[in-house]
Amino acid sequence: MGKSKENLLILLQEAQNKSGYLSQELMVELAKSLNVSLSDVYGVATFYSFLSAKPQARNVIRICKSVPCYLKNSQMIIETVGNKIGIKPGETTPDDKFSFQLTNCIGACDKAPAMMINHEVYGDLNPNKIAKILKSYL
Ligand code: FES
Repeated sequence: MGKSKENLLILLQEAQNKSGYLSQELMVELAKSLNVSLSDVYGVATFYSFLSAKPQARNVIRICKSVPCYLKNSQMIIETVGNKIGIKPGETTPDDKFSFQLTNCIGACDKAPAMMINHEVYGDLNPNKIAKILKSYL
């Protein structure tokens, strides 16, 4: 990654933390100020699952889809969460309470299958545990 792309990632992350998502205007501005193309900015913004070009719901659920979690049946976790909140990965509930995404390893492989809600990591998941965790966010 070149220097300006590294800076870009840092700036995108800061903007995301501040406003919760990356608006079109913000990306245009960043492209100009760093002298990179808008498609470069989009490329970085859409490559990293912790960055989002859409406004996010109050709670962002990220389920790990990497191999160690997959081998521990992350598919079951994805289905359980989907059934509980009534949306598929990539969607947001109509009341804006939850966004649901799949993500690469979140560093909790020793507790696979794992997911994150906002900045909290939850591991050793099973359907009962998921029900309890989700309840605490309602
Ligand atoms: Fe799922 Fe690492 S593979 S947390």
